[in-house]
Amino acid sequence: HNADAFRTDLMTITRFVLNEQSKHPESRGDFSILLSHIVLGCKFVCSAVNKTTYCSQLNTCLAGLAKLIGLAGETNVQASEEQMTILSLSFSTHWLLLCLLQHYVPGEEQKKLDVLSNEVFVKALVSSGRTCILVSEEDEDAIIVEPSKRGKYCVVFDPLDGSSNIDCGVSIGTIFGIYMIKDGGEPSLEDVLQPGKNMLAAGYCMYGSSCTLVLSAGSGVNGFTLDPSLGEFILTHPDIKIPKKGKIYSVNEGNAKNWDGPTAKYVEKCKFPTDGSSAKSLRYIGSMVADVHRTLLYGGIFLYPADKKSPNGKLRVLYEVFPMSFLMEQAGGQSFTGKERSLDLVPKKIHERSPIFLGSYDDVEEIKALYAAEE
Ligand code: AHG
Ligand code: MN
Ligand code: MN
Ligand code: MN
Repeated sequence: HNADAFRTDLMTITRFVLNEQSKHPESRGDFSILLSHIVLGCKFVCSAVNKTTYCSQLNTCLAGLAKLIGLAGETNVQASEEQMTILSLSFSTHWLLLCLLQHYVPGEEQKKLDVLSNEVFVKALVSSGRTCILVSEEDEDAIIVEPSKRGKYCVVFDPLDGSSNIDCGVSIGTIFGIYMIKDGGEPSLEDVLQPGKNMLAAGYCMYGSSCTLVLSAGSGVNGFTLDPSLGEFILTHPDIKIPKKGKIYSVNEGNAKNWDGPTAKYVEKCKFPTDGSSAKSLRYIGSMVADVHRTLLYGGIFLYPADKKSPNGKLRVLYEVFPMSFLMEQAGGQSFTGKERSLDLVPKKIHERSPIFLGSYDDVEEIKALYAAEE
């Protein structure tokens, strides 16, 4: 056999975290147990995403077919006898397949994926017995874990990020951050309204062509890819470092008319550099997890600036800005809000937003200089 094909010393995420754990003898494996429950949630969402994406694409396809052959009561287009035969044949096989598939999609009714993902993560985190308070993008109020199941960790998360991209099969993800409870007392909002620099760990899972989990527990960033045949996340991107400078900028140019001066100037420089360097490429997927993952691996800058309509930008501090900023700093990059280092921000409300400029160290330095000149 080719030895590589059957590598036996598989570095699974569980083993990796246990190795990390051994550096902190004081901890009694609680973090590993918490992480294994987060990993379970990611595996579940990964399988649900694949089924749902396939289902919704199949639904669209069937709806199209149904329309064409008038089953859905639409106006019937003229089709030849032969075309009708082929269409009705393919329709019935698709229909049969969809019915089979519907039967296997988890949950009694077709729940919206972000609601389903949220339920899965809340259940997985509570059942880990290692959390005391949870903040989810999908829940208005923080969840205080029942006393019998409490642990010392506070988890903030976006169960499904990029949800507008579900039906077209574009990568989406889950983002999470982990704090330690501030003091041993009753858990309260103070335990999650901490600056991002107090986070112990942060990560995201991206559901794309493959399922990739990127994690940092404060000593570097590592990427793991789900091997579906094993059901295990295997270390594929050890010690990720973001390039010091990149050639890509990532922003929703559709908001350009509302940008403030420094952002507008920075984007102008990306497109029409005055120092003789070549223009940057624009890449914008619209799922933060996918845009940040590309930035982390290829370098460059991701921006979701403030604008006249939303003075605090769009992205949420606790479970989008902080975890991604934590990872960027751990990978040698940086993250800036337009006013300060993102991780220094002290949130007042659990769902508050902040502008964010993150990515390669030198690229973020440029936009910091433009904001400093503005003051
Ligand atoms: P979510 O799906 O969790 O609400 O997050 C969507 C966010 C983020 O994923 C992405 O960067 C941003 O929305 C895109 O916003 P625009 O469509 O305004 O560019
Ligand atoms: Mn999000
Ligand atoms: Mn979301
Ligand atoms: Mn949302």
